Amino acid sequence: MRPTSITAVAEAPQPGGVAARWYERVLPAWQVTYSLLNWNPHFQSVPGELRRLRQFLEKNCVTVSSAVDVGCGDGAITARLRDMLGLQRISGVDLNHELAERARGRGIEVIEADMETLTSPSKYDLVVSYGSLHHAADTRQFVRTLGRLSIGYVLIVDNTVRQNALHRVTGSRHFPLELSPYRTRSSEEIVSAFDDGFRVIGSATFRNANVFHDRSFVLARKLVVSCEL
Ligand SMILES: C[S@@+](CC[C@H](N)C(=O)[O-])C[C@H]1O[C@@H](n2cnc3c(N)ncnc32)[C@H](O)[C@@H]1O
Repeated sequence: MRPTSITAVAEAPQPGGVAARWYERVLPAWQVTYSLLNWNPHFQSVPGELRRLRQFLEKNCVTVSSAVDVGCGDGAITARLRDMLGLQRISGVDLNHELAERARGRGIEVIEADMETLTSPSKYDLVVSYGSLHHAADTRQFVRTLGRLSIGYVLIVDNTVRQNALHRVTGSRHFPLELSPYRTRSSEEIVSAFDDGFRVIGSATFRNANVFHDRSFVLARKLVVSCEL
């Protein structure tokens, strides 16, 4: 999928010193370059990432027969997840009609809805958010929405804050050259967004082909509430 157009959005600077403030000032120039090149390094790393994801799910003994991919885009990854997990049923959710149509062309049933407020009577063994969390305004609210769709697991794969020495010195998440205008969440923030109805059973962070941020997988299992009459 080619990235959707990205406009240079100045975010509130993170707490930090002079270097961070200077960096926030030059940042929009990098974002314009990113838009002009229409290049997203994330997509170079997808095959390796899916291999890692398969190992991650196997290690956590995840076997499922239905799934929904929330923020499925053009469905390229949704279709690969379907094949990788041998799913009988896969759906997607996306607000973008053009992308939803492309996903339908890949045999995915797509609900065109806002993923942040979505309610659906359908429930799935696995609810996936693959690279869509950073579009959500409120992490907890979004994770709660994912949780309502699940009868088994919730899996979040997204960019997370890279914590290297340079980030610590400058105090800026934009160092070095974080190009995304979207707020990147730390893996701790993702883990802590799950409420008592879920237990986080797996969390792993990897380097992307992208040098700007890390990529995390967080897997949570829904706790079964026993209802004795
Ligand atoms: C970075 S793309 C990821 C697409 C796909 N999961 C992938 O990894 O190739 C994020 C997707 O989330 C969708 N999206 C963003 N905000 C949304 C919202 N509020 N409701 C539904 N979809 C949304 C966008 O249309 C886009 O397709």
